[in-house]
Amino acid sequence: MARKKAQENSSVLDRILTLEIVRVTERAAVAAARLRGHGNEKAADQVAVDAMRRELNRLPIDGTVVIGEGERDEAPMLYIGERVGTKEGPKVDIALDPLEGTTICAKNLPNSLAVIAMAEHGSLLNAPDVYMDKIAIGPGFPEGIVDLDATVADNIRAVAAAKDVPVSSVTACVLDRPRHAKIIEEIRELGAAIRLIGDGDVAGIIHTTDPDETGIDIYLGIGGAPEGVLAAAALRCIGGQMQGRLVINTKEQRDRAISMGVTDPDKKFTMEEMAKGDVIFAATGVTDGNMLSGVRFSKTLISTETVVMRSSTGTVRWIKADHRDFDKFAFDD
Ligand code: FBP
Repeated sequence: MARKKAQENSSVLDRILTLEIVRVTERAAVAAARLRGHGNEKAADQVAVDAMRRELNRLPIDGTVVIGEGERDEAPMLYIGERVGTKEGPKVDIALDPLEGTTICAKNLPNSLAVIAMAEHGSLLNAPDVYMDKIAIGPGFPEGIVDLDATVADNIRAVAAAKDVPVSSVTACVLDRPRHAKIIEEIRELGAAIRLIGDGDVAGIIHTTDPDETGIDIYLGIGGAPEGVLAAAALRCIGGQMQGRLVINTKEQRDRAISMGVTDPDKKFTMEEMAKGDVIFAATGVTDGNMLSGVRFSKTLISTETVVMRSSTGTVRWIKADHRDFDKFAFDD
């Protein structure tokens, strides 16, 4: 009992933070949602960044952004290395994307999110802003049934066999990009289904965790590396399997990765290597999505839907909030 208490007390990520962090993604989502469908990606992203930063700086943490809006010289706010929080709490690393799916939001299409992950200092892969080849499945499968180095066909067959369904009943989520022509062709040849998404692979990967709700069994293909780390953090909490490998095309990218602490840029990273230790992850819907509704505005209420999870306990909370204090969001315009 005493040992348990000591362990609880020594936890870097205070339990309170699990709920505090929700406000951070809520604020960013509400700010971005006001610009949903306005065709202005930059403006939507900027208000989300401002709102997230303001709220983050109220948290009792000594936080460092390790996955953020970019390098200090290209991103004035929430840049990699920026210190956030009141600086008086636990030392944590933060991966964030105040508006994941800027184009989706600008076009008011499904599944744009405000996203954040927080972990003990040194626990998140400091991925450079390059692409990452990713594969992910949800919980409940035997360990290691899919692999980034296996063929597309073998991975899909393995999922079908584990689910005891024909391959035609398996749906793979793939970003709709010319670089995925071969993957798409292979899936079609096999007879499996594809959910082609225009953007937003953090949501695409999280969707593998609830195929009954989302219709997605496996995620395959190349997306952003920062988004890969965020998705790995989510899967660490909710369960599932994921691997990722940086796509390094130039010496500059390789040097950048190494300078950020990635000792082997060609490595196939496991989910645990991308997000280790105790991790908290939160996402609030900006536009309506398969798992989270987008922000709703009415005369008297602003309603948000957030999922917040913690890896050490595996608790996943779905938080529907009706905000009546409009002043809280007053600076989000
Ligand atoms: P943004 O929110 O930065 O627009 O990213 C959207 C996204 O679709 C990610 O979900 C994905 O990882 C990445 O872009 C893919 O990059 P690209 O659009 O260059 O293929």
